[in-house]
Amino acid sequence: MRITGSSRIYGIFGDPIQHTFSPSMHNLAFETIGLNAVYLPFHVLPANLKEAVEGLRSLQIQGINVTVPHKTAIIPYLDEITLSAKRIGAVNTIRNDEGKLIGTNTDGEGFLNSLEEISFSPTQKTILLLGAGGSSRAILVALAQANVAEIFIWNRSAHKAQHLAQEFQTEFPQLKINAVQKIEELQPYPIDLLVNTTSVGMNGVDSVLNLEQWSGIQHVVDIIYHPRKTPLLLQASEKKIASMNGLGMLLYQGVLAFEFWTQQKAPIQQMKTQLLSLVS
Ligand code: ATR
Repeated sequence: MRITGSSRIYGIFGDPIQHTFSPSMHNLAFETIGLNAVYLPFHVLPANLKEAVEGLRSLQIQGINVTVPHKTAIIPYLDEITLSAKRIGAVNTIRNDEGKLIGTNTDGEGFLNSLEEISFSPTQKTILLLGAGGSSRAILVALAQANVAEIFIWNRSAHKAQHLAQEFQTEFPQLKINAVQKIEELQPYPIDLLVNTTSVGMNGVDSVLNLEQWSGIQHVVDIIYHPRKTPLLLQASEKKIASMNGLGMLLYQGVLAFEFWTQQKAPIQQMKTQLLSLVS
């Protein structure tokens, strides 16, 4: 890649930031479609977030991704946020329109788009969502907007699942959203899609539930992508349940961010190949 005086600058704010795959994915995308642009990691400490956002304007940085721990804290410094970002309560992508900073959130929609990889259409389906953190919220909003029939939410700290269910039941009255206290009670219930958004499984050993004891699950997504196959995904493979890890969500949130910034079609296949080469 050749950087010139007219290269446009993009990047990502996070703390820590050194493990991010986004620079590799986006630089490859710029190169593939021949855009004179570069994507850099920015290690932004929470105490410096406001100044870093002001820097976007003063340095005319064209677009930025936002990751942990800044996704919610950054909102007050922006000029505008999209409805999805507002509902999720977090921003992962910002575009700089000549000094006007517009925040959006591509995580939930990225998740939805990734479901095509397992040929799953969420319309009028029953979903079991494990976890009630930031990722769960983004996915919940996207599923609710995609007209699913019913969502069950389970979380280790039950009150958070309860709170999430109540909040979104009010926002989406046509949808059935239930917090589940005892997850075992759902074991015989027909579930079209199980989504793990908890961090359980990252160690390659634990699984948030044992699929052996479940009979009605049709599809499984674990949003973890390192390791590539968590114990939950291994169990799904053993039971011949269609399943997928979180690389798809990572890819498609990046695709949507790229298109939000450049208004050009992202080179999905090349971005996917690049991501796959990075994850062992
Ligand atoms: P993210 O932004 O990826 O969603 P997060 O907001 O920190 O991350 O949420 C982490 C999720 O993993 C939470 O649902 C958390 O459950 P609690 O709300 O009870 O903390 C869940 N989680 C983390 N460790 C867990 C464990 N050992 N067992 C079950 N759930 C766990």
